[in-house]
Amino acid sequence: MKAIVVTDQAAGTAGMTLVERPEPQAAINDVVVQVHASGFVPTELAWPSTWTDRLDRDRTPSIPGHELAGVVTALGYGTTGLSVGQRVVGLADWYRDGTLAEYVAIEARNLAPLPGDVDFTVGASLPISGLTAWQGLFEHGRFQAGQSVLVHGAAGAVGSMVTQLAREAGAYVIGTGRAADRQTVLDFGAKEFVDLDNDALEDVGGVDLVFDVIGGDIGKRSAGLIRAGGTLVSIVGPAEARPADGLAVDFVVESDRAQLSEIVQRVRDGRLRTNIGNVSPLEDAVAALNPTERRKGKTIIRVRP
Ligand SMILES: NC(=O)c1ccc[n+]([C@@H]2O[C@H](COP(=O)([O-])OP(=O)(O)OC[C@H]3O[C@@H](n4cnc5c(N)ncnc54)[C@H](OP(=O)(O)O)[C@@H]3O)[C@@H](O)[C@H]2O)c1
Repeated sequence: MKAIVVTDQAAGTAGMTLVERPEPQAAINDVVVQVHASGFVPTELAWPSTWTDRLDRDRTPSIPGHELAGVVTALGYGTTGLSVGQRVVGLADWYRDGTLAEYVAIEARNLAPLPGDVDFTVGASLPISGLTAWQGLFEHGRFQAGQSVLVHGAAGAVGSMVTQLAREAGAYVIGTGRAADRQTVLDFGAKEFVDLDNDALEDVGGVDLVFDVIGGDIGKRSAGLIRAGGTLVSIVGPAEARPADGLAVDFVVESDRAQLSEIVQRVRDGRLRTNIGNVSPLEDAVAALNPTERRKGKTIIRVRP
């Protein structure tokens, strides 16, 4: 099969190469999926799991990409809940070969059914951004209707999902980002926009929940904006400052079939819009994942045209 592999961490995405690899086999509780579309998070090549196995042994050349939409082609020993020919969407294991390939072996529990009326390209854009937003808001952020939520990077893959889900659940959403993203963020449902390069973040006043996808100084300054009993949720590592009278939580997204199905359903009925940018075939994946201009929306690799 054709696959994108990485061998050299220092080279980053520029070091990706398109090669021939053996097709994966389905282990216990696995399925093999013929990948139709794959999502990639730009920071993936900085994650240790891209380079090593769980015992910290080198596993290169490794296949990156953890989001997929495709069709099940084989079931492993004892695998239940899915069938050959079924359309699926899901989040692949951090430590296994990923989805920038024509086939991937993946545990069935990491997949949810993808209804026939949801395009594979749309499906592949949902698992990481959708599940991260869902878990950050409703599990870790303890969000309740009527609360105010400050969403950093609200035009981005995760931030646009957080903005929409929070709004639907009854939040007053303030989105942040670059000046050029103002209208995009308001279109996703934020009531206010803060241009992080030109506006004073501190003018926001108090909020119940901050969803931080940026970290560093922005994360640090955000802790002071949180009202008593509120929560600072970070997806970019532990916060450098904690709210004076609230919680600080950082987490890594986990696969969850029920939550992923909720997200897919919202896309089907129009409550959720995904933020897709460039869509490229596998042959052009290396160029697409090394953009020369600022990325607008999530890049999706359409593995099977
Ligand atoms: N813990 C987890 O489970 C988890 C899950 C998903 C993602 N992540 C991490 O979360 C981060 C965001 O992921 P993503 O996929 O949403 O990325 P993304 O699509 O690039 O979105 C990030 C957004 O934030 C904006 N931004 C970043 N720094 C900024 C700054 N200093 N000022 C103003 N705007 C800024 C970006 O604008 P520019 O493009 O102009 O910089 C972009 O619009 C990544 O670091 C990723 O690794 C973690």
